[in-house]
Amino acid sequence: MRVICAQDYDAMSRQAANLISAQVLLKPDCVLGLATGDSPIGAYGQLIRWHRQGDLDFARVKTVNLDEYVGLGVTDPQSYAYFMRKTFFDYININLCNTHIPNGLAPDAGLECNRYDEVIQALGGVDLQLLGLGANGHIGFNEPGTSFVKGTHCVELSQTTIETNARFFTTAELMPRRAFTVGIFDIMQARRVVMIVSGRHKARAVRDSFWGPITPRVPASILQLHRNFTLVADQAALSLVPGEGAIS
Ligand code: GLP
Repeated sequence: MRVICAQDYDAMSRQAANLISAQVLLKPDCVLGLATGDSPIGAYGQLIRWHRQGDLDFARVKTVNLDEYVGLGVTDPQSYAYFMRKTFFDYININLCNTHIPNGLAPDAGLECNRYDEVIQALGGVDLQLLGLGANGHIGFNEPGTSFVKGTHCVELSQTTIETNARFFTTAELMPRRAFTVGIFDIMQARRVVMIVSGRHKARAVRDSFWGPITPRVPASILQLHRNFTLVADQAALSLVPGEGAIS
């Protein structure tokens, strides 16, 4: 595990964008695993700027997103499909046919999960997986207690996640209670994993995930065993890490 300590959110975003950009430059037809939430917005913005300057070409890049709410379609402003277009895809030259997100409106959840795992396999797996970190240590929507060996599946969201993410919805009641998420098994198959974390409110999750035992109670903790894992976190997110020597 490699830890990059950034000063603040903007520095974290630039560092993460650098790693993603390097991946695209080295392998122009790479498969990027992408995340939603507040954490990656700055990195997506930086990548858009480099694209506009003519330094980054997404024409052959393929993407698979981590998760989607059950019941929300691509035109719903709260869906992750909509978020990805409005924050990133609409501003780069990616072919939307090469972007994949679980279908929140799929009538059969089991079939949709199988379909999504087949999509990832058919693409040859993920070259670089970008991750955020939930305040309870979740990755994607793999909530505490989730088995490490699951592929894409449909989850009941935890109360903590519902409360945290309800801020994006007009009322808390509109927040979906279920979501599709790629599994931890899928995430661990990615050839490289980059996690971005910012803010004091994530410090406990960072400490428990990467300076504590590996346990399904803290889903992100399994990343300690990933062969190519980089944590890009700002000082606030690293503020509870025991001992300065822990960060190289
Ligand atoms: C959500 C998403 C995750 C994301 C996490 C952190 O629940 N499903 O993929 O990483 O929350 O979000 P944020 O970056 O907004 O803190």
